[in-house]
Amino acid sequence: MRVIAGPADRPTDRTSDTRGGIRFDRVTVAYRGNTDTIALDSLDLTVEPGEVMALLGPSGSGKTTALRAVAGFVKPAAGRVFIGDRDVTGLPPHRRGIGMVVQQYALFPHMRVEDNVAFGMRAQKVPKGEIPARVAEALELTGMAAYAKRYPRELSGGQQQRVAIARALAIRPGVLLLDEPLSALDARLRSGMLAELARLHRELPEVSILYVTHDQVEALTLADRIAVMDNARLQDVGTPQDLYRRPRTEFTASFVGNANLLPVKVGSAAVSFGQAELKVSTQDIAPGATATLCVRPHLVGLGDGPNSLTGEVAEVQWRGSTHRLYVDVDGHRVKADLRELRKPPALGERVTVHFAPEDAVLLAAGVNSDG
Ligand SMILES: Nc1ncnc2c1ncn2[C@@H]1O[C@H](COP(=O)(O)OP(=O)(O)OP(=O)(O)O)[C@@H](O)[C@H]1O
Ligand SMILES: [Mg+2]
Repeated sequence: MRVIAGPADRPTDRTSDTRGGIRFDRVTVAYRGNTDTIALDSLDLTVEPGEVMALLGPSGSGKTTALRAVAGFVKPAAGRVFIGDRDVTGLPPHRRGIGMVVQQYALFPHMRVEDNVAFGMRAQKVPKGEIPARVAEALELTGMAAYAKRYPRELSGGQQQRVAIARALAIRPGVLLLDEPLSALDARLRSGMLAELARLHRELPEVSILYVTHDQVEALTLADRIAVMDNARLQDVGTPQDLYRRPRTEFTASFVGNANLLPVKVGSAAVSFGQAELKVSTQDIAPGATATLCVRPHLVGLGDGPNSLTGEVAEVQWRGSTHRLYVDVDGHRVKADLRELRKPPALGERVTVHFAPEDAVLLAAGVNSDG
């Protein structure tokens, strides 16, 4: 398979200085006519050259707005946007050297696939003679070479999304912005496309990718780092492993993966949760404080163990390869994901579950990005 050459190979290319990542420098966006709503609040974030950064967060948290600020579709009220070391804050979208793919493909219905892919290059005034070869390259890269003459309506959803990606790549962007690119696809197609995107990134290692998603599996699978957004603000940023294993806040713990978040009282070498004393590292949280203990459901086992909790089974869900148990312990519902049980407990049955001290993370109360 041919690989689209990196920007450095083409010194005359307009986008040749776009390599080198993205930097948000205190970027604030408020939509006009809606000045009460700040859609993005002083965002500071750097995407390194060649890095895949996922933007994860609930609906309305400002993810698309952050992408639009990079693409040039919204103008920040304050702050600067850099692509590489170029300040692009005042540049129009077509001069920024970015490729963008949105949720709904947005292909031109009256244009054949090849013309859709050529579209961005025409806007960028790529010499006419170069266009066919670059269209072919981009279609090959996305596995769509055989469909060049078709119209979008003659393609499946997954194929349309590939064309949208080919169109974004054809301009040889240093930066690729993907806004929920897989959300319109069904679960199976989505996981296939996820593998495709990972392969694409291996073939284009110099391209920085900012990837917006609701889906934590996508974020955990694809991203080198994840930026967690809430309420127009960056809440947390780190590698998927960091955020998953050592979350700093309840928000991150519950948004990146599933979590049991138990209110506890901190002692000197243990915490108390209702009647139970649980051995966990109390780090530097002062004895007497209240805190939240985060334990991932798949790290909770059935039966007695180092840190045991006993309660009543409130719900049992069979999920194929696992059982999810909900156990009511002292008025709190504890989730346990267990390898499929041969004989799952009955509702109302008293059971004991446990977790290892090293599998729990203690979160100080009230820790968030505000201080
Ligand atoms: N064109 C617009 N005019 C006014 N307000 C807007 C506009 N676009 C977005 N907003 C508001 O800005 C905030 C952030 O929106 P944004 O689209 O960035 O969220 P998001 O994180 O992408 O959400 P979703 O996951 O639902 O796509 C929301 O409160 C939204 O209502
Ligand atoms: Mg959005």
